[in-house]
Amino acid sequence: MVKNVGALVLGIVGGIVGVLTIIPAILFIWRVIIKPKFFSQKPQAYKKEGSYAIITGAAGGIGKAFTIRFAKEGYNVFIMDRAAEPLHALKQEIEEKYKVTVKESVCDFIQTDKEGKWDEIAKQFEGIDVAVLVNNVGMVQYLPGEFHSLELRDINFMVTLNIRTLLMMTHICIPKMLERNHRSLIINMSSSTSGYPHPMIQVYSSTKAFVRQFADSINAEYQGKIDVIAYTPWYVKTDMTKIRENAIYALTPESFVNYCFNYFGTCGHINPYWFHYLMDIGTSCIPSKIWGQQVYKQQSFVRKRFIMRKEAEEKKKAEESNEEKPKQN
Ligand SMILES: NC(=O)c1ccc[n+]([C@@H]2O[C@H](COP(=O)([O-])OP(=O)(O)OC[C@H]3O[C@@H](n4cnc5c(N)ncnc54)[C@H](OP(=O)(O)O)[C@@H]3O)[C@@H](O)[C@H]2O)c1
Repeated sequence: MVKNVGALVLGIVGGIVGVLTIIPAILFIWRVIIKPKFFSQKPQAYKKEGSYAIITGAAGGIGKAFTIRFAKEGYNVFIMDRAAEPLHALKQEIEEKYKVTVKESVCDFIQTDKEGKWDEIAKQFEGIDVAVLVNNVGMVQYLPGEFHSLELRDINFMVTLNIRTLLMMTHICIPKMLERNHRSLIINMSSSTSGYPHPMIQVYSSTKAFVRQFADSINAEYQGKIDVIAYTPWYVKTDMTKIRENAIYALTPESFVNYCFNYFGTCGHINPYWFHYLMDIGTSCIPSKIWGQQVYKQQSFVRKRFIMRKEAEEKKKAEESNEEKPKQN
């Protein structure tokens, strides 16, 4: 009898451990291998003769990597960014290497609040076949802080860039996509911060939650005609994150974009890199209150360090300029 109870307990424990390890393993294999291999749209699925991919924030970071990859796939590209010089250099590089047509538009999306600016932007897309829109441009406040301490200007800029620009670009492009009678694609850059509490970068993470929710919703609206997908990465090595080190959690923009290309047409939002996906699983096991407290502590430290560094720099500058002043007799 005692032996049977032991076997029963072992059987139950073994069963639970088995279920707890096998189910996540199957889900992982499904998500990382089967879904991209058998259920995603190929990059060429959206292309017709002369089709364009429009990319915002195209001159640097993730936007530049998307631009180059779409050009490599034979798409013409319409690149938009605020700085003329890197935009023009990218145009020349792509035309030379990939022999596709490149249209460039110098545009500071923060200035789009001005009357008539969006009509002006819409006019630039007249007569072009918009197959792909990459809503990439976005910003995070340079200094983490509690909500009351944020500059109103920064709040405004983040909402304008991360939400309003994305909505307006999408609103301009969808009618053009529906006219094509061909499958089209909209890519939105959300962030891992969209899924968990993010004290001290609360506005940024909330704008990214909006992006994810919006992509899920309109992906359902235009199913079969327009694939809409939001990506929710953790760390990509760009000017925004200032990450330089090589680490398994930090991708180059090029590798990140390669992962993104595996998931077109599969769902409304996804974290395309397998290690970031594991980070999502780990994070979702932590109660959100504890997670929030940890992020708050960490971001408070980042803020303190930033302010101290800034003060030290200013002190040094002041000392240097005092030394340079000619001594009065
Ligand atoms: N990097 C990450 O780890 C990460 C993670 C999650 C989500 N994301 C999201 O991915 C997107 C791209 O991020 P990133 O890291 O590649 O950023 P980035 O390195 O800052 O590059 C963004 C590009 O957009 C341009 N830009 C910025 N403000 C603009 C404006 N007002 N008008 C026009 N162009 C403007 C930038 O130009 P300047 O060089 O002149 O600033 C730059 O060329 C963002 O939406 C971001 O929130 C990034």
